[in-house]
Amino acid sequence: MDRILINGGNPLTGTVRINGAKNSALKLMAAALLTDEPLTLTNMPDLADTRFMAHLLAHLGVAVTRKNGTQMTLHAKKLAEPFAPYDLVRKMRATFNVLGPLLARHGTARVSLPGGCAIGARPVDLHLKALEAMGAQIDLVEGYAVALAPTGLHGAHISFPFVSVGATEHAMLAAVLAQGETVLDNAAREPEIADLANCLNAMGTQIEGAGSASISIKGVGSLGGTEHRVMPDRIEAGTYALAVAATGGNVLIENCDPAHLGALWDRMRAIGVTTEPQGVDSVRIIQNGDRCSAADLETQAYPGFPTDLQAQFMAVMCRANGASIIRETIFENRFMHAPELSRLGADITVHGREAVVRGVPELHGAPVMATDLRASVSLVIAGLAAQGQTEVNRIYHLDRGFEGLERKLGALGANIKRVSEAG
Ligand code: EPZ
Repeated sequence: MDRILINGGNPLTGTVRINGAKNSALKLMAAALLTDEPLTLTNMPDLADTRFMAHLLAHLGVAVTRKNGTQMTLHAKKLAEPFAPYDLVRKMRATFNVLGPLLARHGTARVSLPGGCAIGARPVDLHLKALEAMGAQIDLVEGYAVALAPTGLHGAHISFPFVSVGATEHAMLAAVLAQGETVLDNAAREPEIADLANCLNAMGTQIEGAGSASISIKGVGSLGGTEHRVMPDRIEAGTYALAVAATGGNVLIENCDPAHLGALWDRMRAIGVTTEPQGVDSVRIIQNGDRCSAADLETQAYPGFPTDLQAQFMAVMCRANGASIIRETIFENRFMHAPELSRLGADITVHGREAVVRGVPELHGAPVMATDLRASVSLVIAGLAAQGQTEVNRIYHLDRGFEGLERKLGALGANIKRVSEAG
C-alpha cells in the first residue's frame, strides 16, 4: 500500500493547473447511457473514481475509449443486460445514477444499492421517489433496486424536501427521455448541475433553469451524441487555494472557474489571505503573513461553502491565530479528520456537527491515516504546514479525486513524495 511522506514548512509558489471536475465527470459519463451515439468528454480527469465508473459502464455495454489522457468517448450503441452488480456499485455512490438512464432507455433495470459511506448514512430515498413520481415501479430486493417502467417514464412535478445534488442529477438523467415535462423544485444549484444540463441540451433535450432552484426538463423521444468539455474541478482548485493559506506563498491557480468559489473567497478574506481573480479562468492566492486569522465556517449547499472543502479549511484553522467554530450541515459524520489532525498537535474538540479548533503556533509531523477523500487531503495540507515529517497512510482515498497531487505540490516547492511498500 502506498504512503505519502511530507517534510513540511516550505511555502508554495508557482502555477498549478486544475483538472476537470470529478463530480461532474461521473454524471456526464452516466449520460452516455441515454443515446446510441457516441458522447465525447474532454477535460476529463484520470482518477480511480472515473476509471471505476468506466468499468461499470463497460459492463453495461458501453464502449469506452480514452485519447490524449484527457478525452474519453463513450458509445452505448447497444446496451447489455441492464444489471449493475454490487461489486461494481458498492465502492462509489455516483454509480447508482445509472439506474435512471437505464430505466429511461431500457424500461427495466436492476442496480445494487450503493450502501453506507464513511461520512454518513447517505440514503437514496430521494432518488427513488423522483423516479417513482415519473412512473417507475421500484422494489428493493436483496440489496438491489429492481425498477420497471414498461410503458416508459412520464414527466412529473417533483418537489425535493431538501437539497440533494445526486437526486437532482438523477432525476434530470431520467426525465430527458420521459414523455412530457418534468419540473424539479428545491433542486440543487451546484455548478455541476448546470454542466450536466449543458451536455444534455447539446444531446438534444431542453432543460431550463439548471443552476437555479427550479429546473424544467422537456423530455424527448431520443438523444444524440455530442462533444462536451467537463467543467473545472472547483474542489481541487479550492484545495490548492487552502494549501497556500496553510503554508504561505504565492500561487496562480489556472484552468479553474473562480466564480464557482465565491463562498471560499469570502472565508479567505476573513482569514487574511489575498485572492485575485485573473481573467475568467485563473486566480492568484497570496499569503504573506506567518499565520492566518481564525474565522468560523458553516457548510451549506451551493452557493454556500462546500462540504467538500470543510476538512481542508479545518487544516488551515489548526495553525490560525485564534479559535474557529466549524459547523457541518450536509453530512452527519464528516469530522473524521479531526482526530488525525490532532495527532499533528492540533487542538480540536468535536461536539456533534460542530468542531471548535483552537489554533496552535506550530504543528509537528506524525504518521496519520486517511479516512475519506477530502479528509485525506486535509492531512496533506496540515503536513505541508507542519514542522518535520508527516506520513499519510491509506492514500488510495486521495487517488479517487486528486490527479497528480504530489507531482503538482512538488512543482510548487513542497517536499512531498509517494513511497510504495517496497520502498
Ligand atoms: C455529492 O454527493 C458529491 N458527490 C459529494 O462529494 C458532495 O459532498 C455532495 O454532493 C454535497 O455537495 C458526487 O457528486 C459524486 P447529496 P451526493 O445528495 O449527491 C442526504 C466528494 O468528496 N440524502 O447532495 O451524494 C445525504 O445523506 C463527495 O467528492 C438523503 O437523505 O450528496 C446528505 O446528508 C463526498 N437521501 C444530504 O442529503 C437521498 O436520497 C446531501 O447529499 C439523497 C441524499
